[in-house]
Amino acid sequence: MSADDYKKAAARAAAHYVETGMTLGLGTGSTAAHFVAAIGEKVRNGLEIKAVPTSEDTARKAIAAGIEIIEPDETTVIDLAVDGADEADGYRQLIKGGGGALLREKIVAAAAEKFVVIADASKRVAQLGAFALPVEIERFAFALTVRSVRETLAALGYVDRDMRLRAGPEGPSFLSDGGNYILDCRLERIDDATELDKALRAIPGVVETGLFIGLADEIILAGPGGIERIR
Ligand code: 5RP
Repeated sequence: MSADDYKKAAARAAAHYVETGMTLGLGTGSTAAHFVAAIGEKVRNGLEIKAVPTSEDTARKAIAAGIEIIEPDETTVIDLAVDGADEADGYRQLIKGGGGALLREKIVAAAAEKFVVIADASKRVAQLGAFALPVEIERFAFALTVRSVRETLAALGYVDRDMRLRAGPEGPSFLSDGGNYILDCRLERIDDATELDKALRAIPGVVETGLFIGLADEIILAGPGGIERIR
């Protein structure tokens, strides 16, 4: 089986949690897209749900799959959010934001009654940090924010050898759906994710980080050995 088959298997396992009447949070990325497809299939078979997508891309996919989407400000409740991850450790700490949707993903995950992460087993790591940490920053005076991020990382003992603004398809810089830049920080290993997240979020100009700490209730990983659940 390919990595994509495993992503699909994890997505299908998460789809079992979905019940009629729920308001779902729909994540972003290729694994989340499999979840959207699985839910679309259930909707065609009579499931009644509403969904809040975490990106324009997911909104398009959900509409194409026949899922009723609602604006995030039309609900105060998200029963279940399901999303992918770039890295997940055994403490259910995550790096997310490879697709640049981390801010909306974190808002929805934090608000959800239950947040389930789906991934192929290659995303399971002993320690976070090999995947470059995405940090969403305000465009205004971004060079000052980048300098502060660099200083904060250095103060915490991190050496970033290759920090860079993410390049975008349409222009020199990627813009999130909210119109912000993404700064990818190559840290190699993150020793204290809670400390790092807090320090980065304290910088004016930092909108959010891709560290998802204390948010995931369950991680469903699919690989050659079958399905593993970290709860
Ligand atoms: C998007 C994300 C994605 O969930 C993450 O990048 C994983 O993507 P994929 O499922 O395509 O491997 O955080 O911002």
